[in-house]
Amino acid sequence: MKLLVNIDHIATLRNARGEGYPDPVEAAQICEEAGAAGIVFHLRGDRRHIRDEDVYRLKENVRGKLDFEMAASEEMLEICTKVDPHLCTLVPEGREELTTEGGLNMETVYNDFKGRVFPALRKTDVEISLFLDPNTRDIELAHELGADAIELHTGTFANTSAGKQQHELTRLRKAATLINDLGMKVNAGHGLNLENLPDLLETVPHLNEVSIGHALISKSIYWGLEKTVKAYLETIEDFYG
Ligand code: PXP
Repeated sequence: MKLLVNIDHIATLRNARGEGYPDPVEAAQICEEAGAAGIVFHLRGDRRHIRDEDVYRLKENVRGKLDFEMAASEEMLEICTKVDPHLCTLVPEGREELTTEGGLNMETVYNDFKGRVFPALRKTDVEISLFLDPNTRDIELAHELGADAIELHTGTFANTSAGKQQHELTRLRKAATLINDLGMKVNAGHGLNLENLPDLLETVPHLNEVSIGHALISKSIYWGLEKTVKAYLETIEDFYG
């Protein structure tokens, strides 16, 4: 099970003052040196954090897995094809949202993904992951499309009250089992932190990668990036040895 660090909010902090620091590429390098298996970035249509030049610099400097998280717009498909990351995670994107608010609705996007998005990405050898809520129908449709992986949206689990977390974990566990049975990889992300990660790792089988950003970058303000990444890795090692 691998830790991929999302470095979007290093860019958020940089952009707040219009300076060149902190640099998301330098942060990515520190994360990798501390043991992270790869780096995630989300190039949004409004460029609120990561910018185009960051993408090309990340491609050049990241040694491990590079996960390009993006909406399935023509613009992003073109950039992704050019950059050729290892993984492309397709997410829904709303202009007003503070962060990605949920998984893709596969019924809505199915025909478009089948006719336009998958053929464009399949011209490269990028692995395709779809960000989904833990719903059977969405997962089955993703499988029909030929997705390589599903990233399970863990935000509902992470943000719900303690009393409802078990219910959300059960949904995630069933979804992970189905994804694995259908021959796809199981990734997970959104809202994960050092407090809720152990429950996820204990309950949800077949995890391949977790993508963690906001809580990890926030904690690094106090602890430093290297120490924070190592703390996440130790949490993972407690379960996977
Ligand atoms: N996975 C996806 C698909 C996301 O959109 C995000 C947020 O950018 C994350 C993982 C990371 O979530 P967080 O920043 O809450 O750790």
